[in-house]
Amino acid sequence: MPTTCVIGLLWGDEGKGKIIDLLAEDADVVARFGGGHNAGHTLVHEGERMVLHLIPSAIRRPGTLNVIGNGVVVDPFHLRDEIERVRGHGIAIELGGNLLVSEGCHLILPLHRLLDHASESSRGAAKLGTTGRGIGPTYADRAARCGIRVGDLLRPERLRRGLERLCDEKNATLRACEVPEVDATELQSQLLEIGEWLRPAVRDTGALLRSVLRDGKRLLFEGAQGVLLDVDHGTYPFVTSSSASTGGIAIGTGLPPQVVGEVTGVVKAYSTRVGAGPYPSELDGDIAERIRAAGNEYGSTTGRPRRCGWFDAVATRYAVAVSGTTEIALTMLDVLSGFGDIGVCVAYERGDGSKTTEFPVFDLDDVKPVVEFFPGFEGDLTGMRRFDDLPENAQKYVHSLEELAGVPIRTISVGPGRDQVIRR
Ligand code: GDP
Ligand code: IMO
Ligand code: MG
Repeated sequence: MPTTCVIGLLWGDEGKGKIIDLLAEDADVVARFGGGHNAGHTLVHEGERMVLHLIPSAIRRPGTLNVIGNGVVVDPFHLRDEIERVRGHGIAIELGGNLLVSEGCHLILPLHRLLDHASESSRGAAKLGTTGRGIGPTYADRAARCGIRVGDLLRPERLRRGLERLCDEKNATLRACEVPEVDATELQSQLLEIGEWLRPAVRDTGALLRSVLRDGKRLLFEGAQGVLLDVDHGTYPFVTSSSASTGGIAIGTGLPPQVVGEVTGVVKAYSTRVGAGPYPSELDGDIAERIRAAGNEYGSTTGRPRRCGWFDAVATRYAVAVSGTTEIALTMLDVLSGFGDIGVCVAYERGDGSKTTEFPVFDLDDVKPVVEFFPGFEGDLTGMRRFDDLPENAQKYVHSLEELAGVPIRTISVGPGRDQVIRR
């Protein structure tokens, strides 16, 4: 049974939330497979803006089931707050109704947040610029086999044993960092309480998703972050701690890898990055400022100003290949209107002066972008709904990006709203 997947191609914030909300019209189930509330997915509908961090982006679609798969790390206290906030927008969320959470999700506990901050402080100038939400330490505990999972919230004895072991170990580290220690007994009672609240939503979502596919229902996978933030295939160590590319789908849902069908890779008509790490096509000065202002490029999760630059065809082609992207959704085309000539990074120049069009994922420190300029376009694109309505140079720009990326651009987003889109 074919499935669809939406992932970010570069360093996150490509506009995945908007595209998923759009495509969810044709989905029975939308499943997140990785990341945590480091993600911030923005939905704009009839002028109302809402940012989702853990709740899948189909929550506005009545009749669509939203699943938080086992690969997602869940801060249950954050989840409760987020559900309340989203309900405040008039959206119905029923635990066990339109929202399910896998019993296999690892829990982000307050101690993971403390460890995230401690680790960043100890790195000093070499810090990664994490979202500070405890993501890395939680995935580390998963790999170290000492994590606590959502299903443990419903099994008091298992929870007690797990917490005792975990707190003993982590308190030693917290002491060394001169951070107040965690009281395992107090934490246990808070977790048991929130577990009772979450109980109706907790499921073996792997079994459920397998039956969804057997029944011929339409499944859409929601990616978080982007391929270049993938722990294995991104710009390590300046990455997140999960498998953000399509490789994370089987791991983070309990489905076999063959179920990955069509892959929509989302990418902006320019590029951005939050946090530290290599970014070959980054701009500084006036043009970066103009992109930031026109695209409102401030983090959806942390509010940090995003670094901005030209579209990077080298990085995009790499991400398309790694993820098996079959088509691209190009976002933010409207933002570039009125910019004059538009740059695209078409190759990299290495430290020794040689050029490459392959993404040197292990050696990005001394590459410089080779930028080619394309004629710019003007006018307000946000009301356009047909490709032929776009200014001629905007059409040519899209054709050029498509050729450089090597896969068709079938969706073009011209504004934050769900309906501000051109399908071709
Ligand atoms: P995500 O993490 O990939 O879901 O992306 P974010 O929500 O973090 O950031 C994308 C931002 O761009 C949000 O503020 C969206 O509302 C906005 N956005 C999405 N598509 C477009 C578009 O085509 N044009 C403009 N101007 N804004 C867009
Ligand atoms: P969405 O799903 C943009 C970045 C952080 C930092 C690095 C590691 O909204 O696209 P972490 O807290 O994960 O350990 O931080 O990853 N990062 C994101 N950047 N969008 C995201 O998610 C991100 N999630 C993590 O800024 O550089
Ligand atoms: Mg985001």
